Amino acid sequence: MDDPRSPLVSTDTHGPRTHTCGALRPEHVGQTVVLKGWVDTRRDLGGVIFIDLRDRHGLTQVVFEPHVSRAAHTLADSLRSEFVVSVRGTVRARDAEQVNPKLPTGEVEVYVDDLVILNTAEAPPFTISAHEEKRTLANEDLRLKYRYLDLRRPELQRNLILRHRFYQITRRHFDLHGFLEIETPVLMKSTPEGARDYLVPSRLHPGKFYALPQSPQTYKQILMVAGLDRYVQIVKCFRDEDLRADRQPEFTQVDVEMSFATEEQIYDLIEGLMAAVWRELKGVELPRPFPRMTYDEALRRYGSDKPDLRAGMEIHDVSAAFEGSGFRVFDGVLENGGKIVAIRVPGEGDRGRGAMDRLDKDVVRKRIGAGGLVYFKRPSDGSETYSSVKAEVLPTVHVERAIEAVGAQAGDLVLVLAGPAPTVYTQMGALRLHMAEELGLIGDSSDGPWRFLWVTDFPLLEWDPETQRFYAMHHPFTSPRPEDVPLLDDDPGQARARAYDLVLNGNEIGGGSIRIHDRAVQQRMFRLLGIDEAEAEERFGFLLNAFRYGAPPHGGIALGLDRIVMLLAGAGSLRDVIAFPKTQSAHEPMSNTPDVVDERQLVELHIRTVLPDKPGRA
Ligand code: AMO
Repeated sequence: MDDPRSPLVSTDTHGPRTHTCGALRPEHVGQTVVLKGWVDTRRDLGGVIFIDLRDRHGLTQVVFEPHVSRAAHTLADSLRSEFVVSVRGTVRARDAEQVNPKLPTGEVEVYVDDLVILNTAEAPPFTISAHEEKRTLANEDLRLKYRYLDLRRPELQRNLILRHRFYQITRRHFDLHGFLEIETPVLMKSTPEGARDYLVPSRLHPGKFYALPQSPQTYKQILMVAGLDRYVQIVKCFRDEDLRADRQPEFTQVDVEMSFATEEQIYDLIEGLMAAVWRELKGVELPRPFPRMTYDEALRRYGSDKPDLRAGMEIHDVSAAFEGSGFRVFDGVLENGGKIVAIRVPGEGDRGRGAMDRLDKDVVRKRIGAGGLVYFKRPSDGSETYSSVKAEVLPTVHVERAIEAVGAQAGDLVLVLAGPAPTVYTQMGALRLHMAEELGLIGDSSDGPWRFLWVTDFPLLEWDPETQRFYAMHHPFTSPRPEDVPLLDDDPGQARARAYDLVLNGNEIGGGSIRIHDRAVQQRMFRLLGIDEAEAEERFGFLLNAFRYGAPPHGGIALGLDRIVMLLAGAGSLRDVIAFPKTQSAHEPMSNTPDVVDERQLVELHIRTVLPDKPGRA
């Protein structure tokens, strides 16, 4: 029978590789080696052919010289990008002027005496070269469609290797601390983490559905009731929510639960993991304990429940400085119980009028949605303070008071917003981050700085004016602080939770709480959330039942593994640290998922689809 393979391809006669493409060093000079990999680049220099051979370990320059092997040299002429080859040859030291200090293998090259082409490749739809300068990044949709080619890029491979190492360190850490890795079901009953569920229809139970876990929250609590004591799982979670660069519809948590746990024990356990990860992957000793801040303080000082401490520029309440100023806008805000808040932007006191107008119009009004920006500039030459509001309207004495309150020096800019609290704080928080970004204080970087922070004392509940009801800020299983339990009757909005988030450089990388383990308190919590007894029984009866039989006090946390790896890698998107991520519209372009299924499958599942009039996005 004819061999259907390309005539260039032949059977590998070299046996296993002796080294990877990243392994050879001067100490190997003189050895005969076998390397296997992909053709990265090919250069033909007057009869001598140079190939950069690539695998996930690196690049090695291999050389085809007619004097060494005429046959190999002739065959090398047909090599193209991404062909898969095996080469056998001798390691030689490169001439001093040929040494490539950027490559770990840059001091040597392999002179090939035999070449086997293991497979050919069509011209890829975009260049993949490991040499960054030889590559332009194709648009992301195309790269996701050919993900197997994009994944050949060293940056993405580095990210996946980093992720692998994160798993290993995590498993070791929890094992050392007596945690058991236990799998929980993927086909489960809906758990309320605040997003929409992904549902799976049941064939055997017509009209019924499994939900994919938004998190294994209920199961891990039940494992505590079961006496398993310390649970950990690296687990996929699924949430059908609006996507952003830091959100994927399926993502991975390091999910943890501990019986008899206090907040302090959980902080210590998680800080220990972070310290081990940063030590091993970054060579950095993280200062511990991590700083802590209450939710209220985070909002007041940084306008966010996940403050980026790299940015400096704390928010100041300067309301007092403008008391009785006669400036109508400010007076109005203060009369209505609002706040006037300010940040000091160091070194920006000489900004031009045009730049300030754009900041006001495009950022403050359009993007942030605040009413308008007031600003004061203290020029670096020490000349008089400039106020964006004329002295006749806002007397200078008030401007000077505000400048003093934020500690602005010559050369600084002071930005001021006024409005109802807490909105004005979150608006200033957004403006602060915008400025920090502009000033290059908070870009993506794999070298730090690393500013960890625990945010504590979250409110237990959040009032939603639209639906006129409370929602759990964390989830309904979170315990109120014991001293705040009476508030559940009198003023539930004021009750604080035993909940905490771990924040790194302005990203929420984990969240958890001490749980309710008392059946009556749990039922009371459900009632507050507008879940009546019948519904509570229907949705969470299994958990409430478990609580009848000796539930130990317990608490835990879940870390966002993808987000942590993204930050470690200095990547700007979760897609760069997930092998097969989904796009902004929850689509996976390579396999074209989601997709239609056979009518027969739908019938088996007792499902009839009713499509919207206007078909949704593909
Ligand atoms: P939470 O909902 O805060 O808590 O999730 C924990 C952490 O998971 C990460 N995360 C995400 N990462 C990527 N894409 C998403 N769509 C996404 N959603 C969340 C975040 C977040 O901090 N069961 C509780 C944990 C507990 O109470 O123990 C839970 O799931 O980094």
